[in-house]
Amino acid sequence: SPEPAPINVRDIKDIAKSKLSSAVWQYYTTGAEEECTLERNSLVIRPRVLRDVSKINTRTTIFGKTYDIPIAIAPTAYQKLVGNDGEVGLTRASHALGSNFILSSNATTSLEDVMSALPQRANHYPRPWFQLYFLRSREVTARVIRRAETAGYEALVLTVDTVVLGNRYLERKQPLTLPAGLRMANREGANAGGVTKGRLMLNARTAKEHEKVMREHGDLIVDPGLTWDETIPWLRSQTRMKIVVKGIMTGEDGAKAVEAGVDGIIVSNHGGRQLDGVPSTLEVLPELVVAVKGRIPVMFDGGVSRGSDVFKAIALGADLCFIGRASLWGLAYKGQEGVETVLHILERELSRTMALAGAMSLDHISKDMLGVARRDGF
Ligand code: FNR
Repeated sequence: SPEPAPINVRDIKDIAKSKLSSAVWQYYTTGAEEECTLERNSLVIRPRVLRDVSKINTRTTIFGKTYDIPIAIAPTAYQKLVGNDGEVGLTRASHALGSNFILSSNATTSLEDVMSALPQRANHYPRPWFQLYFLRSREVTARVIRRAETAGYEALVLTVDTVVLGNRYLERKQPLTLPAGLRMANREGANAGGVTKGRLMLNARTAKEHEKVMREHGDLIVDPGLTWDETIPWLRSQTRMKIVVKGIMTGEDGAKAVEAGVDGIIVSNHGGRQLDGVPSTLEVLPELVVAVKGRIPVMFDGGVSRGSDVFKAIALGADLCFIGRASLWGLAYKGQEGVETVLHILERELSRTMALAGAMSLDHISKDMLGVARRDGF
């Protein structure tokens, strides 16, 4: 008899593991250093009853655009490593579910090809966003921004938690190289030997070696000299796209982001792959929501693999959630259809959680529907 169909994201992750090479699996699953920054989720749901949940509505609006589900796809590098159409499969799946997709700077499909693979849909739905690694060469950076705007991307997502690459032990022991035929399709001059310049730096063993890599590859590595005061106005001078900052972890920086005039933030610790020892994103979300005071969307990623994770993030004030790894498991499982399966599973789980907790729409999910798990026996 055939294998039973997967019914949750964990099943799909198990299938993905059986299909991927060990180097790719390690690249996807690894965190930084001792991986202290794991999902530290001790929240429980306080359900309310007798509240008419006969019609559940999961729709939301970001930048004036409709999202049928509050779950979009985070930027992850080299999606063709999974096979199954890579970036195109993921983008199409997100659009089929009435949601959206962020294309990584380190994509293996050109940003123009991703855009032209999308069927038209009604104007009130969003177009994809482009994630930017801001390089030391302003010219190269300006060129890719222009390409994204011309191609019709709706927002530029500046990732700010990756000034240098996090210290990933597993990745260092089993370095990732791009197989022949795959290349970074949106990064000029970055395809030397199938590794990124960032990875060359990760493998430097002494400060001297690090300096040498910086000197030799200077212009095409991420600029560690960016600042709030200078960088955001410069980006504004380059583009009319919305500007979103990804990788904010403190209320102080949430307030800075509003002050600097960005259009939205994504609370993220890069899936635990950058600075080890930071809290989970669910833990810091409340301080961001307090700091931002509803002035711009506060979006969220990190460890979302169940509908209840989305429910909890929304209860704490997130306007939109992103999935990273869960979307890659879906792509490994069955290409675009597999990603759609993951999104359908999360949609069903979120709707069911909302019904059982007494929230008919996202704005009925409130903070007092959450409590803290007690481990002391009381
Ligand atoms: C990432 N992430 C990431 N972020 C980014 O801004 N640009 C990138 O190119 C990548 N690449 C990347 C590769 C892989 C393999 C992973 C797992 C992650 C971070 C990503 O956007 C997101 O913040 C996290 O993946 C969210 O956590 P979950 O959903 O994977 O737990």
